[in-house]
Order: sequence, then C-alpha cells, then structure tokens
Amino acid sequence: MRSDMTGGYPLARPRRLRRTPALRALVAETSLRPRDLVLPLFVKEGIAEPQPVSSMPGVGQHTRDSLRKAAAGAADAGVGGLIVFGVPAAKDGRGSAADDPAGISQLALADLRAEVGDACVIMADLCLCEYTDHGHCGVLTEGGEVANDATVERYAAIAVAQAAAGADMVAPSGMMDGQVAAIRKALDAAGRADVGICAYSAKYASAFYGPFREAAEGAPAFGDRASHQADPANAAEALREVALDIDEGADMVMVKPALAYLDIIQTVADSVTVPVAAYQVSGEFAMVEAAAARGWLDRDRVIMETLTAIRRAGAGVILSYWAAEVARWLRGGV
Ligand code: PBG
Repeated sequence: MRSDMTGGYPLARPRRLRRTPALRALVAETSLRPRDLVLPLFVKEGIAEPQPVSSMPGVGQHTRDSLRKAAAGAADAGVGGLIVFGVPAAKDGRGSAADDPAGISQLALADLRAEVGDACVIMADLCLCEYTDHGHCGVLTEGGEVANDATVERYAAIAVAQAAAGADMVAPSGMMDGQVAAIRKALDAAGRADVGICAYSAKYASAFYGPFREAAEGAPAFGDRASHQADPANAAEALREVALDIDEGADMVMVKPALAYLDIIQTVADSVTVPVAAYQVSGEFAMVEAAAARGWLDRDRVIMETLTAIRRAGAGVILSYWAAEVARWLRGGV
C-alpha cells in the first residue's frame, strides 16, 4: 500500500480544490487583466468607410474617424494598450509614407493620443512592408534582397516620426540586425529618450501571418521573409535575438506568434527581466473564428483558454485582436 493511500483510496484528493467555482478561483495560478491586453488596429488612408478584412471577421481597416471610435471603446474597456498599423494610399520602393509627418500612421497616432490621452499605452508598429510597393520589410538591393543597414536607417527615421506624432513606444517588427540600437540612438538624438522600444525580438517566419497581410496590405510581391525572420525550427536563435535586443536597448521584448511558440515565451520569460509580450497573431485569430463559425469550437471558451495559456507560459503583455472584447468580459460587461 502506498503511503498516501488508505483502504485503496487516495488521501490526497486534488479534486477537492476544483469542486466549486469559488475554490477554483481561489487557487487559480494564472489570471488575465484588461490591462495585460493590447489591441492591434489598422487604419487606411483615403477610405470613406471602414473596410472589412475577409479573413479576419470582426476586424477591419479603419478610417481615421472609425479608428478613434474603436480606440475609445477599447480604452473604455480598460485595455492596456493599442498598437497601430498604417496602410498608406500610395507606396514606393523606400516606403516614403512611413516617416512622412503627414503619413497615415503619424496622423493616426496623433488622433489616438487626442482620443485616449494617457488612458492606455499607444504603440506604433515600425516596419516598411505596409509602405513599400514590393511589400518587403525594407529597401531592396539591386538583386532584390532586403538590404539590412539601409533598412535600419529608414527604421530610425520612422521611429523619430512616430515619436513626434505621439507614440509612447515604437515596436520594430522587421527583424533587421541592429535595428533596436539604431532606433534607440535616433530617438535619443531627437531628444526622445522618453519613448520606449518594444522589440519584436523572437519573430518567426510564420504562415500564421496570412490574414494580417490582407489587413495591412503588406504581402511580399515576390519571395518571403525567411531570410530575416526566425526559423520555426529554432529556440536558441530566439534567445540570441532577445539577448541582442536587450543589449541594444529594448525596453520590452516580444515573441510572435504565440500559441505555437509557448515554449519560446516560457524560455524567454525565464531568462530576461524586461517585460515579455506575446502576439496572438492573425492566423491564430482566424483559425478560431473560422471553426467557431462552423459550430466546431466554443469560441469564447477557446479565446479565454488560449489567452490564459499565453499568460501561463509567461507573457506579461498580450497583443490580441480580441483584446477589447475580452477586456469587456473580464470587467463583467457584455
Ligand atoms: C510586419 C508585421 C507582421 C505582423 C505584424 N507586423 C507581418 C509579417 O511579418 O509579415 C503580423 C501580425 C499578425 O499576423 O497578426 N509589419
């Protein structure tokens, strides 16, 4: 007979703590707060009405006006932050609109600041893929490769423009080498030592970004992003990227996607002291919405389960297209 058994029955009964909702709530190890969530928002230049994104039901490209309304709703629900993606009307080889003070993302950042004040953190995605006519995350060499150092120079200029427009944090997502250091230097030189950097450090070359590329109109016209984004086969590579980014001045690091990379979130969270963010990306959103629309999954429970799993793995901050809706659930609203 084992020492914890008596008469063939166990003495330790974990089920005792699961008996009622109150007991389960008391001993829950992981919880989610509205403030942990960041809502990604798309804003498109030159549209009169918000445009739906077919692969992301419920998510759309906003006009400047509808963006303000969505932001106000999210702030009201208590989300911790907003992250903005601008979609310009005109694109070119160097992504000129990205750092234009009158470019859509700068106008949108200023709108958001005016709308929500300091109620939540305003973040700016910092990349070129939405702004270049070829859809790559940087400027190209004659051979059609993404040129690292020339791209990093563009990122530095974009960071300064986004800071001037009102971003609390810039979030470089292009995975160029040295991008965080160059951005930090440029922000400091512009007198914006106060603006933080949330680095997409462990950003994988993932097929889960498919729907986003429709929303942000940033699919590469040729080739892919495998030469700069991390290889899904690797974990040590992510840790190396995270360490470099922190060394270069990142205030926060991000793992992306989230659900297929919970091991990476956990390892990163265990190895750094800066806040760790995770991005529940467009494909993760689309999978659940598509299955739920067929009645194959219980949508709301799956959403909470995935978000809880991402928190449990160690992400302090979660970017999610469900952020505002979940924030409302958490506050007991509808
Ligand atoms: C690049 C960027 C991407 C995402 C966020 N920033 C796409 C990419 O690298 O192709 C993906 C987010 C998502 O899928 O929800 N600017």
